[in-house]
Amino acid sequence: MEFDFRSKAVIITGAGRGIGRAMVKTFHDAGAMIVAADRDADSLGETCRAYAERVIPVVRDISIPKGAQAIVDRCVNEFGRVDVCVNNAAVAPHAALLEERSEVWDTVYAVNCRGTFLMTQLSARAMIAGGHEGRIINFSSGVSKRGSAGAAAYASSRAAVESFSRVAAIELAPHNILVNTVSPGLIDTQPKPLPPRMAEGLGKRIPTLPLARPGRPEEVAWVTMFLASEYAGYVCGAVWEVDGAAGIGTRAGHSIIDDDPRYDWVTKT
Ligand SMILES: NC(=O)c1ccc[n+]([C@@H]2O[C@H](COP(=O)([O-])OP(=O)(O)OC[C@H]3O[C@@H](n4cnc5c(N)ncnc54)[C@H](O)[C@@H]3O)[C@@H](O)[C@H]2O)c1
Repeated sequence: MEFDFRSKAVIITGAGRGIGRAMVKTFHDAGAMIVAADRDADSLGETCRAYAERVIPVVRDISIPKGAQAIVDRCVNEFGRVDVCVNNAAVAPHAALLEERSEVWDTVYAVNCRGTFLMTQLSARAMIAGGHEGRIINFSSGVSKRGSAGAAAYASSRAAVESFSRVAAIELAPHNILVNTVSPGLIDTQPKPLPPRMAEGLGKRIPTLPLARPGRPEEVAWVTMFLASEYAGYVCGAVWEVDGAAGIGTRAGHSIIDDDPRYDWVTKT
């Protein structure tokens, strides 16, 4: 299976760091023309420096209608079309529920939900106006499905994206625009060295993951590229977990021995 995105115009939001940066590389290496969008000019410049051609940096805020429109317009103006829109940009401030500030809550929802909605709506309009099929890949998180202390705003905003994406998939399918969601687990995107408390927390958590390691940003990028590719033509409205099974259980921390003295499961006595 080879990915060929030559002649495809791809928008990637949140391209300044982490998974977004890895996706710019992955799609670039597969031949795509890319609008790499982020609100942080410095980190976006860092991402795009390696690519003189085919990667256009656009410094804009996806949570504002004008910002989202400018990103989509730039793609249409530069490349004449939008084939794929990857809505990866998000913010993830954590706070205890009892101390959560409504301003921060609103910011999380403005970026993670309104931004995803705006980019989905505007890129879909551009695809329809262009008279061709398209792909939209939204981003969620494993915490959308489980309780996680401190993540009230972030986790619920990611769950909202999953729900929104199901509606978008149904409404846009008649236009041959396939909408799917990628839900990463723990991915190694933090700059090193880690702050001490985070390092301690991860030091305890990572051994409990089924694969006992975090994912690499490119491991998320490859799945996203598959969903954007011709090979995923019948995948629509799905949530793809890229979490090394972290969402379904933890690694056994000991040998698995049934030493219940009451039963012998072989002799059934
Ligand atoms: N890293 C993980 O472990 C992890 C786990 C689960 C889900 N995710 C999801 O994966 C995606 C990427 O995560 P990451 O860790 O690479 O994120 P990150 O924080 O490293 O990068 C996010 C990028 O988005 C940009 N951004 C934020 N708000 C923006 C806005 N309003 N307009 C434009 N750009 C904006 C930031 O400047 C930043 O460059 C997110 O959707 C996140 O919810 C990540």
